[in-house]
Amino acid sequence: MDFLQNLVIPATTQHLLMIKVILGLAMIIFLPFFGMLLGGTAFSVIFNSYGRKHRNQMFIRFAKDIIDKLAINRFVGVGLGVIPLLSITFCYAQLLFGQSVISISLLLVATLLLTIAVSFVYSYQSTFQIESLIETFKDISGLDKHELETKVPEEVSDYEFDLLNTNSNAGLWGLVLLIITALFFAGGTSIALNSDRYQDFQNIAQMFLSGSTFINFLMLIVFSVTASGVAILFFFFGWQGGMHDMEKEYADFARNIGGKIAFTGAALLPVFLFMSFFFIPNVALSGSVFVFTGLAFIALLMLCNFVYAVIRNSDTKYIAAAFYVFMLSAIFLVLKNDSAFGIAVQKNLIVTNQKALELEAQKKSKTVNVSGVNGEEIYNRLCVACHKFDVKLVGPPYQQTIPTYNGDVKKLSSYILNPVKKNPEYPPMPAQPLKPKEADAVAQYLIEKVSGKK
Ligand code: HEC
Repeated sequence: MDFLQNLVIPATTQHLLMIKVILGLAMIIFLPFFGMLLGGTAFSVIFNSYGRKHRNQMFIRFAKDIIDKLAINRFVGVGLGVIPLLSITFCYAQLLFGQSVISISLLLVATLLLTIAVSFVYSYQSTFQIESLIETFKDISGLDKHELETKVPEEVSDYEFDLLNTNSNAGLWGLVLLIITALFFAGGTSIALNSDRYQDFQNIAQMFLSGSTFINFLMLIVFSVTASGVAILFFFFGWQGGMHDMEKEYADFARNIGGKIAFTGAALLPVFLFMSFFFIPNVALSGSVFVFTGLAFIALLMLCNFVYAVIRNSDTKYIAAAFYVFMLSAIFLVLKNDSAFGIAVQKNLIVTNQKALELEAQKKSKTVNVSGVNGEEIYNRLCVACHKFDVKLVGPPYQQTIPTYNGDVKKLSSYILNPVKKNPEYPPMPAQPLKPKEADAVAQYLIEKVSGKK
């Protein structure tokens, strides 16, 4: 997957700064949404399959509401999931310019997997809607159970059967793909921190040798549990006054389950944060990594408190606070990770900036306007008498002298117009009867010819 490396060009320090900002923003959008999507799909699939097995309508309804509220819709899935992850991948490719390490490939695989996962998740989501549509028609038809069995045409009941199958399969496939996406994402971002050991991570299988990948993968899963729990509370009860068509029994059930999920996640997350901290390699540590880890820790403890208050008092007043504190802790986690990554690749960025500046200087010197003048023709007319490319004539062979100009067309053309004494082994070169533009053209021709571009 080196093609991504070929797509990006080395960036200067200002550009790199901009890329870091974009990376931070993309992460802040991506992580909470991905957490909601992964956790939401998982809990929806679990409640759905349990509900169908035990014919529990409330569980099925909960499964439908979770996937409706947390995954929102297809466009959101692409806009807050796939596109940010793609930008993250590009930012990593830029910041890791010139380094050979599997991080970028892992992130690219994660993006592809997420794209497929998203299409499964939203087809799972839509089967619920079609199913409830069919139910509505059955209700208003006024037929009793026996009549329904005999009078409904076979195609319809076949279709219903298929629909239920798609429902459970698509949900499960979506979930499995999301989990693998999380693994590759954790792998790509964790390995990128080991800038002193990039040579150990050259093929995808080596991802499994990285301890920090596993810890960060588990942390991402726990983060998803937290995100989905908090989101269930927020989108069922907080956002725009909450859902209005809930009876008390269902509302109590949803608040209780959502609260427990959120609390479990929020209580476990600090533990994983602590563990993952020990896996941050020394090359990625700095004061700001400590500070952001600490802030994330505090935000998570506050989150625990708010969620506990919700469970304890069956009171919805702390739900919005819990949601905002959760977003805050997500932002701190992102900042912690980005500053660790920034430190890890600092050296590389200095080299990259150098390369970018060189490239720019080279480009500048090559952009002299030589249109309308044929450098090759001038060479054949004036210079051939004394110069060849590979052998010594009256003057030295070009292959020896041209490379000392480092691609600088202006410098070479000014020599041609105004030769100064260079090499004592040769007689002086007579000044050439050329206009400046013609000198530029022949200089450009010689540089390109010697570097093999013509
Ligand atoms: C009459 C012979 C003669 C002609 C014609 C001539 N050169 Fe030279 N050129 C020389 C000699 C002699 C030297 C070595 C000068 C020295 O080392 O001081 C030289 C050196 C050079 C060098 C090397 C400069 C360096 O930095 O060492 C370049 C480049 C060059 N010539 C380009 C050209 C071009 C382009 C033309 C045609 C437009 C041209 N020359 C025509 C005799 C000639």
